[in-house]
Amino acid sequence: MKILFYGTKAYDRESFDRELDNYKNIEIDYLEDDLNKKNAQLSRGYEAVCAFVSSDVGTKTVEVLSECGVKLILMRCAGFNNVDLKAASEKGITVLRVPGYSPEAVAEHAMGLALAVNRHIHKGYIKVRENNFALNGLMGVNFYGKTAGIIGTGKIGEAMCRICRGFGMTVIAYDIYKNKNLDFVEYKPLDEVLSQSDLISLHCPLTDDNYHMINKNSISKMKDKVVLINTSRGALIDTDDLIQGIISRKFFGVGLDVYEEETKNVFEDRGNEIVETFATANLLSFPNVIITSHQGFFTEEAMEAISNTTLRNAEDFIKGSINAGNVVG
Ligand code: NAI
Repeated sequence: MKILFYGTKAYDRESFDRELDNYKNIEIDYLEDDLNKKNAQLSRGYEAVCAFVSSDVGTKTVEVLSECGVKLILMRCAGFNNVDLKAASEKGITVLRVPGYSPEAVAEHAMGLALAVNRHIHKGYIKVRENNFALNGLMGVNFYGKTAGIIGTGKIGEAMCRICRGFGMTVIAYDIYKNKNLDFVEYKPLDEVLSQSDLISLHCPLTDDNYHMINKNSISKMKDKVVLINTSRGALIDTDDLIQGIISRKFFGVGLDVYEEETKNVFEDRGNEIVETFATANLLSFPNVIITSHQGFFTEEAMEAISNTTLRNAEDFIKGSINAGNVVG
């Protein structure tokens, strides 16, 4: 099978090349440009393409991929909100993903963001570098003894629940389904999780149903001085409403690994450009907000698991024995 990889960086190529030795039936060509409706035509002659979180795998892209003879879209990530699954199904294209490559990688990053804003570590780091050893403005609050509200308790949410328990927090959660492994977690309706938590961390996928689930109305239900963390998908939060909430002093801190305007920025060095993402610039102007660029997944362990599962998905497809748990749609 020949696979065309889109949107690759040096670290992707190194990771996949290491794994490729174990898959003799697979050939890979790498492109740096991310998949979109214009460059989808480069897939002619390939049975499969491999895409990522920032790829545009919308209706038009899927149509072009189909015209080029592509039968398989390999998402080298867990999320798939950027794929038109209906169009793929109509064209007979299978979409496979990597559902749980390292839930701990993302959960640890979520707690990293929470600790950073909770203790102003981002400010402390800069201050000390400037020989400013004063503590003014750095007073934090303990997580110990407080309540963590986890929204979405799948693989990453489960790992986050365990981390929060390790910090001595009471852990409550909201999910459509209860996770049986989490006997120490009390499930509650969303409004109660919002109103009772000192730390709220989002770990559900973005769907049509939960677009902007954190908005003016849900923010008004939260405790004052709450810490809000989003490592899931930017559009779970209405950015304008979040900004208003921050201005009204609702949040002790906000940590975002994902944000609504991220698509053009993700994984690019735009240091010399005039970036026109106004809402993001606005968010970055607040001292109690930290933004990282979709790096929650980015650990050595996770990259190895992503390469391995993606290539195994391709091999299973060749053999006609795909892992049902990795099928999207
Ligand atoms: P998962 O599929 O194991 O768990 C998702 C959970 O969310 C499920 O228990 C599901 O029932 C629940 N859920 C679905 N809709 C919901 C709703 N409206 N309200 C509350 N709960 C809901 O997924 P996993 O692996 O835990 O990943 C979660 C999300 O994390 C992914 O969808 C992706 O968006 C994001 N992610 C972010 C990464 C990063 O680098 N920042 C890396 C990997 C995933």
